[in-house]
Amino acid sequence: MRILIATTWSIAVAVTNAQPNRAKTGYDYVDPLIGTINGGHVFPGATLPFGMAKAGPDVNGENQGGFASDNSPIIGFSHMHDSGTGGSPSMGNFPIFPHPGCQNDDINACSFNYWERQIPRVQGSVRAQPGYFDITLASQVRAEMTVTNRTALYRLTFPETPLTRNTTLSPLILLELSDLPQTRGNGDIAINATSGRLTGSGSFLPSFGIGSYTSYFCADFKGAKLRRAGAFSNSRNAQGSQVTIVTEGKNPPLVRPAGGWVQFQKPTNNNQILARVGMSFISEKQACANAERELPSFEFDGTVEVAEKAWREKLDVIKIEDGGVSEVFVKAFWSGVYRTMISPQDYTGENPLWTSDEPYYDSFYCIWDSFRSIHPLLTLLDPHAQTLMVRTLLDVYRHEGKLPDCRMSHCKGFTQGGSNADVVIADAYFKNITAGIDWKLAYEALISDAEIEPPNWDVEGRGGLESWKKLGYIPTENVDLLGTGLETRSISRTVEYAYNDFVIALLAKEFGNHADYIKYLGRSGNWKNMFKADQTSAINGVDTGFVGFLQPRYMNGTWGFQDPIFCSPLLEIHSCYLNPQGHETYEGSCWLYTFYVPGDMAHLIETLGGPDTFVQRLDFMHDKNIVYIGDEQGFLKVFLYHYAGRPGLSSKRAHFYIPSQFNDTIGGIPGNDDSGAMGSFEALTMMGIFPNAGQDVYFITPPFFKSVSILNQQTGKTATIRSVNFDPSLENIYIQSATLNGKEYTRNWLQHSFFLEGGTLELTVGPEESKWGTRPEDVPPSLGPYGSNRTLNAMFDRA
Ligand SMILES: *[C@@H]1O[C@H](CO)[C@@H](O)[C@H](O)[C@H]1NC(C)=O
Ligand SMILES: *[C@@H]1O[C@H](CO)[C@@H](O)[C@H](O)[C@H]1NC(C)=O
Ligand SMILES: *[C@@H]1O[C@H](CO)[C@@H](O)[C@H](O)[C@H]1NC(C)=O
Ligand SMILES: *[C@@H]1O[C@H](CO)[C@@H](O)[C@H](O)[C@H]1NC(C)=O
Ligand SMILES: *[C@@H]1O[C@H](CO)[C@@H](O)[C@H](O)[C@H]1NC(C)=O
Ligand SMILES: *[C@@H]1O[C@H](CO)[C@@H](O)[C@H](O)[C@H]1NC(C)=O
Ligand SMILES: *[C@@H]1O[C@H](CO)[C@@H](O)[C@H](O)[C@H]1NC(C)=O
Repeated sequence: MRILIATTWSIAVAVTNAQPNRAKTGYDYVDPLIGTINGGHVFPGATLPFGMAKAGPDVNGENQGGFASDNSPIIGFSHMHDSGTGGSPSMGNFPIFPHPGCQNDDINACSFNYWERQIPRVQGSVRAQPGYFDITLASQVRAEMTVTNRTALYRLTFPETPLTRNTTLSPLILLELSDLPQTRGNGDIAINATSGRLTGSGSFLPSFGIGSYTSYFCADFKGAKLRRAGAFSNSRNAQGSQVTIVTEGKNPPLVRPAGGWVQFQKPTNNNQILARVGMSFISEKQACANAERELPSFEFDGTVEVAEKAWREKLDVIKIEDGGVSEVFVKAFWSGVYRTMISPQDYTGENPLWTSDEPYYDSFYCIWDSFRSIHPLLTLLDPHAQTLMVRTLLDVYRHEGKLPDCRMSHCKGFTQGGSNADVVIADAYFKNITAGIDWKLAYEALISDAEIEPPNWDVEGRGGLESWKKLGYIPTENVDLLGTGLETRSISRTVEYAYNDFVIALLAKEFGNHADYIKYLGRSGNWKNMFKADQTSAINGVDTGFVGFLQPRYMNGTWGFQDPIFCSPLLEIHSCYLNPQGHETYEGSCWLYTFYVPGDMAHLIETLGGPDTFVQRLDFMHDKNIVYIGDEQGFLKVFLYHYAGRPGLSSKRAHFYIPSQFNDTIGGIPGNDDSGAMGSFEALTMMGIFPNAGQDVYFITPPFFKSVSILNQQTGKTATIRSVNFDPSLENIYIQSATLNGKEYTRNWLQHSFFLEGGTLELTVGPEESKWGTRPEDVPPSLGPYGSNRTLNAMFDRA
């Protein structure tokens, strides 16, 4: 038994206007602070759905997402962030910082650089909701923040009497030309001592990629009369109007702290000053224009309301009846959905790299993380946004020659495995993401990934294509004369390239290109070339009994060796990253990668000794902690039981991880959220429709709620999944029988047409596994021979 504080809440139907006593809906359960400690790296500040402006506090500590729910000191408030990233912190440019006054009214007595100005928070003062964040600093300055699409708005409330000795209230607000990872190169700031406007720019490095980017700001203040203004450099201050900081174009290191400041008389209203910071990647002028257009009057409460409404609209496409289940699930669920819509960020009109009428989204951070669950969930909830994202990917291809695998701040990000934008595009195709998409171009982009090796395949495309075509695998210690990249991950790249080729085969078939279909279907089987049939695996010297694992293989065909549990939580988990000392698998073990054949699970099951052995091996991997669910690769492994005719075990496994690893606490996700990957995994899993990305396949498991309905924005139809015999203690987690629109339904998987056409899937659940969904003809499509032996035609059976 788990949990069990029953709630009496149940969902009310679409009441959009705020009314007293209105029943709570999804928005009311979102806790943006989930995942803000212990490596979740979630950005909890104020943002609109997919908004470019993301206002939040920044800490000197675990600050990948800016803020952390711990005791680390606050160094400022900045206006753009990424959420959940794993590597170095991202953006956080041009932080502002408030001082209630300077001691003895001496400007130099105020601290300017971040290590001197950093200040504790008042514990317990944080309040966060989508579009709004509130925190009080130890100086008794309360900082509230909200945003429009490109502009951050802060409401700073100062104490009547500053805590610093011999200091009268005369707020000083500084703005530093810096970012979170401290990568600033050139920078400049202009201070208008008449209006108090601060404008400027800086060039910075992306947090997980190559190149650099320039960002611009425009800050204005309201609520108090300006006294004086100036610039600072290190801890010295100069009153004056314009400072240009030049650091000889070197990115990094940051040479010295620098920025500007404005000081005010005692504010006229409630000791409050509003700070409005417009952002742009084009120019200072555009940063000011964004701010003036979006927030002409600095209206704070109204802006919070607009943000709330925007989030309610996004979240309200899902309705749940929670059936009295613990609020832990309800909060984790809605917060997960919320986090899925923080990024990618809509930078349309803010792309300095090329001129185009196409949309431009950024912060695809990274597609290796997002193709599995983020994009499939966006496809369900916001197909329009997903369409614009796919069009962006294609516009990147059009102008930069390759699809991105990771992209942030207008820079190319690092590729972790395969060319997984291929999967996003195939997934979109099969799920009616079509409007304005040039499919001819899309197909060309996929074929380019498969055929043309770029000079630097660390940031786009694939490496080792010559071997891929000739030998049918990426050899360990490959010799590659076509391009350069990090020569590691031969096993993980092989299985990812194989699946990338699989989805290309699916599209080739759709587009009537039979020759390509045969070619890429053939290459999709390349995983077999690294399968060493007699490889065994031991843990602490004790043989696991399982035989046959992916293993390193050299160009001459002989096998190398990598302990199958190496880089799992059991053995040196941190040894398989993107570094020259990395090994033949990426962020996971041979155990894990041996299960990655999403296009042809039937052959994999046969290769591993049939469905019973397969299930035993999968159980063993989960039970012995060989798979780490805090890494995106773990997600699909929860549901592979469906292919072996044991959908009940997928459900059991989902309940094994939720809520023990995904819950409503501030530490409630097991790994970096990676722009909402953990959030989308828990949301899809709790809805009972986890997808096999790149295919028209959703695995059916019982929802964690009595019912879940999704309104499709393209067709206006609603699809409802309802549990019969739902029990809120979640003992009844096995499907006994199912009906789709009143007719018996025995397949253990669904197609996207259900969501487009609407209808009701009714699942009768019970406490024991049943025969439902277990027959060979019930399992999701594969190439054969175990299972239905469906040909790929079945995947396109939209009837
Ligand atoms: C307090 O500040 C004022 C200026 O505001 C200064 O003239 C005075 O000397 C200061 N007193 C002390 C004790 O520092
Ligand atoms: C933000 O931008 C999106 C996309 O252009 C737009 O639909 C939305 O209305 C904007 N939101 C606000 C509050 O202006
Ligand atoms: C400074 O601001 C004032 C008041 O808005 C304006 O008249 C003036 O042109 C500005 N100065 C510069 C150099 O932009
Ligand atoms: C194949 O290549 C590997 C790695 O270079 C080498 O260790 C091995 O001896 C070679 N095997 C044969 C049969 O040449
Ligand atoms: C919540 O999730 C976190 C992260 O996975 C985990 O460490 C913690 O034990 C979970 N808490 C509960 C009460 O299940
Ligand atoms: C696909 O989406 C379009 C809108 O983009 C919609 O008009 C159409 O009905 C959808 N197709 C299906 C089969 O639902
Ligand atoms: C699967 O289908 C193919 C093509 O129709 C056929 O050749 C093969 O014998 C079938 N395999 C099994 C196990 O039924």
